[in-house]
Amino acid sequence: MSVQIAPSILAADFANIQREVEMLNASQADYIHVDIMDGMFVPNISFGLPVTEAIHRHATKPLDVHLMIVDPDRYLEAFTNAGAAVISVHLEACTHLHRTVQAIKALGCKAGVALNPHTSVSLLEDIIEDLDLVCLMSVNPGFGGQKFIPRTFDKVRKLKSLIDNSGSKSLIEIDGGVNQQNAPLLVEAGADVLVAGNFVFSSSNPIGTIQDLKLL
Ligand code: DX5
Ligand code: ZN
Repeated sequence: MSVQIAPSILAADFANIQREVEMLNASQADYIHVDIMDGMFVPNISFGLPVTEAIHRHATKPLDVHLMIVDPDRYLEAFTNAGAAVISVHLEACTHLHRTVQAIKALGCKAGVALNPHTSVSLLEDIIEDLDLVCLMSVNPGFGGQKFIPRTFDKVRKLKSLIDNSGSKSLIEIDGGVNQQNAPLLVEAGADVLVAGNFVFSSSNPIGTIQDLKLL
């Protein structure tokens, strides 16, 4: 299977959200990545439920919702109702991660766990079999358009072997600073899903850029 692409709507023109979603519908994107920031877990505030609902109303692609919020358990049901197909929570934001993951699945969503750049993938050893996706942050979460942290390559390889040795079917998603240079190396290391915000939306031809990433 070729690499899956999840353009991040955070980099879109919010004044024309319907047009941007329709552009993604017409592209080869596999998901629409939806970045939720609460100004607490991360220093920035993005958008919340009504905007997610509006994206979902126009989207023909599944929504990959990345919750960068404290105590995400409080909002799992609301984001499911807003149209999430995948919900990723941060390991660093969950005291009872196993319970949170089960709650996401009980709502009928795919369950993902995101790790900050400093968080070791070895912390997933006792939960990897329960996960549908692991989101490795390749920037510190909070903002689009940041520089990719090269240490991520090692983390992808380590996570890939953890997944293979456990029999888990979890996908490996990379989020932050993905571009044409690092994308092929990430795929070679074992990445299954690439999030791309600025690289897609700042390009003169976003549909073509998504296609180029797919063809890696
Ligand atoms: C960062 C977000 C990312 C971001 C990616 O906090 O989780 O999804 O939008 O954007 P780029 O690709 O521009 O780094
Ligand atoms: Zn994200």
